[in-house]
Amino acid sequence: MTCHSIPVIAIDGPSASGKGTVAALVAQRLGFHCLDSGALYRLTALVANSNGVALSDEAGLAQVALSLDVEFVAGGMTLMGRPVDEAMRSEAISAAASRVAQYHGVRMALLARQRAFRQAPGLVADGRDMGSVVFPDACLKLYLTASVEMRAERRYKQLMEKGIHVILRNLLDELRERDLRDATRQLAPLIQQADAILLDTSQMTIAEAVEFVLVHYEKVRVRE
Ligand code: DC
Repeated sequence: MTCHSIPVIAIDGPSASGKGTVAALVAQRLGFHCLDSGALYRLTALVANSNGVALSDEAGLAQVALSLDVEFVAGGMTLMGRPVDEAMRSEAISAAASRVAQYHGVRMALLARQRAFRQAPGLVADGRDMGSVVFPDACLKLYLTASVEMRAERRYKQLMEKGIHVILRNLLDELRERDLRDATRQLAPLIQQADAILLDTSQMTIAEAVEFVLVHYEKVRVRE
């Protein structure tokens, strides 16, 4: 793998694997831009929901994705000029985003938008198909995962800390369902690519995972 003049670090992996947190911290350490591609699918589902567009209406969803008025700003994002709140991270929107993401029209509508994030001095992008479809020439590709039990437990703790009460068993079932849908869909399914380095964080802290990515990025840079 060689780096394009603007390097991309692609971090793909299943829901609640911690890839978003790791991606944001790596971007911060390198002074790179950061793309949370899942947010685009989540916002498509959120806007479709409030505009009454059915989750089975591919053309309607693609139109929502195409006209999404989203801006990534310091510390978060805005939708139609207003800060996006935690509603985007709810379990209902997580499930809807995973369904919306199955459609070709939606994925195509979001492709150019994602590629536009590639700006100097570099980009850290996280999602499901960053290394396979959106940035196939990324100079470093990682597949970040953790056991489904560990991911459910982490998500459970996060929600409890926010005062949101959920049942761990339900979270586990929802994650399994979403993993299955994301990994078995026809388009850009979530799978570890042959050229992606596996990073299993089941027994790792976030700080250790960040170091792992930085060490590998340094190796790529030195080779060039
Ligand atoms: O990363 P996340 O949990 O925020 O993503 C929400 C959903 O969006 C996920 O279930 C599948 C979809 N997604 C995708 O299909 N491709 C991406 N690059 C990112 C997310």
